[in-house]
Amino acid sequence: MAEAFNDKTLPDAKTERYAAVAEEIAAVLDGEPNLTARMATVASMLASSFDDYFWTGFYVVDPDKPDELVVGPYQGTLGCLRIAFGRGVCGTAARTRQTQVVEDVHAFPGHIACDSRSASEIVVPVVDAQGRLIAVFDVDSERPAAFDAVDAEWLERILLRTFAEA
Ligand code: SME
Repeated sequence: MAEAFNDKTLPDAKTERYAAVAEEIAAVLDGEPNLTARMATVASMLASSFDDYFWTGFYVVDPDKPDELVVGPYQGTLGCLRIAFGRGVCGTAARTRQTQVVEDVHAFPGHIACDSRSASEIVVPVVDAQGRLIAVFDVDSERPAAFDAVDAEWLERILLRTFAEA
């Protein structure tokens, strides 16, 4: 009986919102192959779905400098233009290809402060259908520890569906 009340069977508001926006994104992008349009739509729809999303967007792998990220479609205040692989949270996600959930950006070695209001951050690698890294998706929040495993799981799912499976 206890199982009926555990976290897995009672989806919280955040989970429900992610599930809904995942379907909305897929519906809007149905039939649209352009990568910039797809990234811009994901950034816009996610940014307007969650109050905690202060800066929301993509850093894409520069085709001319494959070990460097350059800013792509985003919503928010001015972002840094370029980030080398291995630098900061975005560069770490790009180099390791692992989602980074950072509760306190000021405690992260090499964090790049584009906007001093950012307190916590999540960065998810974005791969294409061939498994190649094409970008990272970065969300910053003004609230400390705004992101957790639920955000990681849903963002990974949405980004795979949008850029690897479409
Ligand atoms: N904080 C990021 C840099 C990108 S901006 O926050 C928009 C980082 O350390 O990778």
